Amino acid sequence: MTAESEKGPVEVSPWYNYTTFDISGDLVFGESFGCLQDGRLRPWIQLTFTAIKAWVYSGAVHQSPALERAALPIGSITVRKSIPKSLLQKEIDNFNLSAAKTGKRIELGSKRTDMMTGVLKAGLTEEKGQSNDSRKTISRAEVHSNVFVLILAGSETSATTLSGITFYTCRDSDILQKLVSEIPSSFTRDGDINFQATATLNYLNAVIEQGLRCYPPFVGALSRLTPPGGATVDGHFVPKGTSLGTDMYSTFHSPCKFHLPDEFSPERWLGRDPRFANDRLDAVQAFSAGPRGCIGKRFVSCNLAYAELRLILAKLLFHFDISPNPGFELWIDQGVFYLWYKPPLLVNLTRRTTIEE
Ligand code: HEM
Repeated sequence: MTAESEKGPVEVSPWYNYTTFDISGDLVFGESFGCLQDGRLRPWIQLTFTAIKAWVYSGAVHQSPALERAALPIGSITVRKSIPKSLLQKEIDNFNLSAAKTGKRIELGSKRTDMMTGVLKAGLTEEKGQSNDSRKTISRAEVHSNVFVLILAGSETSATTLSGITFYTCRDSDILQKLVSEIPSSFTRDGDINFQATATLNYLNAVIEQGLRCYPPFVGALSRLTPPGGATVDGHFVPKGTSLGTDMYSTFHSPCKFHLPDEFSPERWLGRDPRFANDRLDAVQAFSAGPRGCIGKRFVSCNLAYAELRLILAKLLFHFDISPNPGFELWIDQGVFYLWYKPPLLVNLTRRTTIEE
């Protein structure tokens, strides 16, 4: 990033992806993907984004009986005529690459405990499909699915949140100034910036909460099926087998729940501004809730997701002065294919010269 910044504006979002994917690679496979070092995403990771687009097309097909009838099952994969062939092929390539990386980790083992250690804790079976073993061993196919979820859920979410925070803070010079004055003034050298020390930075924490509210990485609704016998939700009976969800973006931007709902105001999380006294902060559930809510929020004893966000932001702002590049305001005008499809987020970064490494 250093070399690129010295030349001019930097497209910062991919650097967030490189960082969070490298951390996820380290935690899942026991080794980094090396994206930061090379300044590019591994093909494996690049493909996951395209694969997600294929899921979206698949989902759309399921919504329409006419398109459903055009479905053409091939082997274990249901190939649908309406999905672009190139996307389907990428989805298959993606699975094969993921399987190869997983196989290498299983064969070679790891010198230290990583997430795969947990996945394989009860043992691996080579039976096809899902394991029926009562000792809860895991089949190779199940490992592949879990790895895909672990890598993607643990990295794209954090990288997206960081991009959103960068956009909103750079757009408002007062907010950026408050944030910047908190971080470099709290540390004298890079080595002091760690999970514990950044947890006490109130303004940084408020900025992160506000980033998750204004630009949640999961934009729409994560559905749940009602159980046999149905369920009563908010006083309404819903029959069994109904898919229900709460749309994140619209809930977090609802004027019924937030004063100035579209405004990025970290103050609403600091409890000092009376304008936001009636805000329903508990409505912001960017990690979802319940037993299938994000494990990154309650990972082991630390809150991995927040720890990562704080550390990356604190290090960036400790080392660099950041400012928006012209045309920056249009960034927020973007589409969603399950995840945000982000245009380039261009910022100017100037290395601070007054700090110790
Ligand atoms: C800003 C950061 C993050 C956000 C906003 C976020 C959000 C979410 C959400 C909304 C879900 C879906 C839960 C549901 O269906 O109810 C989820 C699932 C998940 N998250 Fe996160 N996440 C973040 C970071 C992480 C990190 C760092 C990890 C690393 C371990 C992680 C691992 C997972 C996994 C494995 C699941 C799937 C859980 C399951 O299916 O049971 N996430 N996350």
